[in-house]
Amino acid sequence: MNTDLVSYYKDRANEYEKIYAKPERQADLKNAASILQEIFTAKHVLEIACGTGYWTEKIAQTASSILATDINNSVIEIAKLKDFSNKNVSFEIADIYNFADNKKYESLFGGFIWSHILLQDLDKFLATITSLVAPGSTVVFMDNNFVAGSNHPLVETDKEGNTYQLRKLDNGTAHLVLKNFPTEEFLRSKVSALSDELTFFNSTYYWIMCYTTKKKQN
Ligand SMILES: C[S@@+](CC[C@H](N)C(=O)[O-])C[C@H]1O[C@@H](n2cnc3c(N)ncnc32)[C@H](O)[C@@H]1O
Repeated sequence: MNTDLVSYYKDRANEYEKIYAKPERQADLKNAASILQEIFTAKHVLEIACGTGYWTEKIAQTASSILATDINNSVIEIAKLKDFSNKNVSFEIADIYNFADNKKYESLFGGFIWSHILLQDLDKFLATITSLVAPGSTVVFMDNNFVAGSNHPLVETDKEGNTYQLRKLDNGTAHLVLKNFPTEEFLRSKVSALSDELTFFNSTYYWIMCYTTKKKQN
């Protein structure tokens, strides 16, 4: 069974956005787009794990600029085909853990990547995020709430408490995909030491956590 997340998303590129066509999620998606557009208004945004650019396209309508990055070229090629009429988006292939430049961004967005980080790697992940932005920056993560019948069932839990779903692609391959569903309390606890201010938005299908990184870094 394939458990490699990066190759799973490489192969899923062409069918990825079917997830955004689920009828029951449309109202939440629209609401989430408004929240993100408001948060990132007039900001320069670093987007990590941008995938096919679904959120890039929404955020680009109000942001000053976006550098949208992903480890997989196959998803970036699809993202580039979207209509970015403000001409304020550039793309780069980049691993979250291995950015080439030392630039500090004033805001950062990561959509649906938190759930794919092993629980035991979250502190390292968040330290990396903090290193990419300037003190006092806006950091936003968005991801799924588990809703039975709308999400794939959880088929496995490992000894650290990470949960996994069995997913099939149109090419017939099966993948065991790491997908964690943290509670609001857990999310707040993970970033409390890194943030000055935190706002949490919850809907049926999604959560959005927005925090300001500490003005004075410890
Ligand atoms: C669930 S998709 C989310 C895509 C997009 N943000 C969205 O919300 O539609 C996760 C994305 O993370 C990317 N990814 C996985 N590991 C990564 C890493 N180490 N660095 C950068 N991107 C990564 C995958 O290629 C995939 O496009």
